[in-house]
Amino acid sequence: MKVGLIGGTGGMGEGFALRWSSKHDILVGSRDVQKAKDAANNYLRTAQNFYGDQMNGNIIGDENLAIARKSDILLLSIHYENIEDTCKRLSNHLSDDCIVISPIVPMKRTQSGFVYTPIEDAKRSAAETVAAHLESFRIVASFHTISEARLKNLHESLDSDTFVCGDDKDALVTVNNLISEIPGLRHIYLGPLSIAYQAEILTPMLLNSAHRNKIKNPGIRIV
Ligand SMILES: NC(=O)c1ccc[n+]([C@@H]2O[C@H](COP(=O)([O-])OP(=O)(O)OC[C@H]3O[C@@H](n4cnc5c(N)ncnc54)[C@H](OP(=O)(O)O)[C@@H]3O)[C@@H](O)[C@H]2O)c1
Repeated sequence: MKVGLIGGTGGMGEGFALRWSSKHDILVGSRDVQKAKDAANNYLRTAQNFYGDQMNGNIIGDENLAIARKSDILLLSIHYENIEDTCKRLSNHLSDDCIVISPIVPMKRTQSGFVYTPIEDAKRSAAETVAAHLESFRIVASFHTISEARLKNLHESLDSDTFVCGDDKDALVTVNNLISEIPGLRHIYLGPLSIAYQAEILTPMLLNSAHRNKIKNPGIRIV
């Protein structure tokens, strides 16, 4: 499968590229072609060192729109503020059956701690904002509470759960399989995309509790 990472040069993009390149071809996207190629080359070196002969995928970099055209799965590794502009640019470039993944968490830091901004600003969740701009595509929301540091460290098991929201059964199965390929990560179905805010809002909660209780790289596990 070809997995495209829009904004793949960022922290989460690096983690997904490293984890999924053992099986899949990873297309690292950026607004800047050279930045994408440099990041992809760095990720490839790390992945090849770790997986050796067991690595079945490749990692290449290109401009966001170019990778969107080739992707079976497209993960939006960008911030909430950039959804509208990015999705408008992407919408005419995705293949009809492309599955779009949103790990996006709208939040900001205030004097009280991290807060979930759609509540304060009376706006839509990140997942619903993506869906509004990519109407004809299957959207799945997940990975909101994954620690970037743990995701990037190939020697570490995630040892946590991630909630999954979406409206298309086949898309959910595909994304669940990708989740299961990351060691120690379990998918927990939460419901339709309309309640993805319940997964997104966990991230500021998790970060506040981690900061105030000195917990490093926190995650969530349902027992
Ligand atoms: N970090 C975490 O632990 C974590 C955990 C769970 C979920 N998330 C969510 O995952 C998403 C990515 O997080 P991250 O930590 O990887 O962020 P990041 O390191 O800041 O990377 C975001 C990427 O977005 C791109 N970008 C910046 N400005 C842009 C613009 N105006 N338009 C389009 N693209 C732009 C950049 O790529 P180019 O400059 O190369 O285009 C950048 O590499 C966020 O929504 C975050 O809420 C993060």
